[in-house]
Amino acid sequence: MANKTESKCREILKRTGVRKGQVVLDFGCGPGNYAIPAGKIVGNKGKVYALDKDAYKLKELAQRAKSDGLKNIETIETGGEPSSGLEDSSVDVVLLYDIFWYFPVTDPRLPRLLKEAYRVLRDDGLMSAYPEHIEIEELKQEIERAGFSLQNRFAGQLIHDGNPQQGQILNFEKAKGNDSPGLQVNSNSVRAKKTSTIEI
Ligand SMILES: C[S@@+](CC[C@H](N)C(=O)[O-])C[C@H]1O[C@@H](n2cnc3c(N)ncnc32)[C@H](O)[C@@H]1O
Repeated sequence: MANKTESKCREILKRTGVRKGQVVLDFGCGPGNYAIPAGKIVGNKGKVYALDKDAYKLKELAQRAKSDGLKNIETIETGGEPSSGLEDSSVDVVLLYDIFWYFPVTDPRLPRLLKEAYRVLRDDGLMSAYPEHIEIEELKQEIERAGFSLQNRFAGQLIHDGNPQQGQILNFEKAKGNDSPGLQVNSNSVRAKKTSTIEI
């Protein structure tokens, strides 16, 4: 049965744009606070790839999925490299939620992570970031440099480490006119889009 935390995560994912039938990659999924509700939203025809370097967290997630009867969540254990092994353009939504403590803007793995997100994402896909432990505008610039364009952002109560906390979600799409995955684009040269922060 869904508890309050799960209901909140589900609401956040729906607000972000996760829909029935989609393929989601939750990079740095932890024990599944967002991956489990994502699995419930996308349903039997959808799929959630839950990726983490921590085998214990993935085991906990797999147990939660099993006890909730979810068969559409596949765990991916990595050695810490920002690589998923998924096909190019095979994912509708990439979640990068509360993982930036491990990928600071000074870390060369951050551009590699963003390049991987770009590679696996379909052209009309969505990359959703929940920045914690990082300067939000600096991260936004890094993400834009990796070929994404901010679509919308919203602020309000989110779930951080399993607890309610005020925060922001930033949703990106692939920048128009950017043909090369991971290409460094000057965000000023990308067609300006109207973005807004909405309180939830
Ligand atoms: C604070 S938790 C966030 C979990 C989940 N995304 C959430 O918002 O509830 C960060 C997770 O990122 C994972 N992580 C950190 N560095 C990673 C890396 N290089 N590759 C894969 N996972 C990583 C950690 O193991 C941890 O489970």
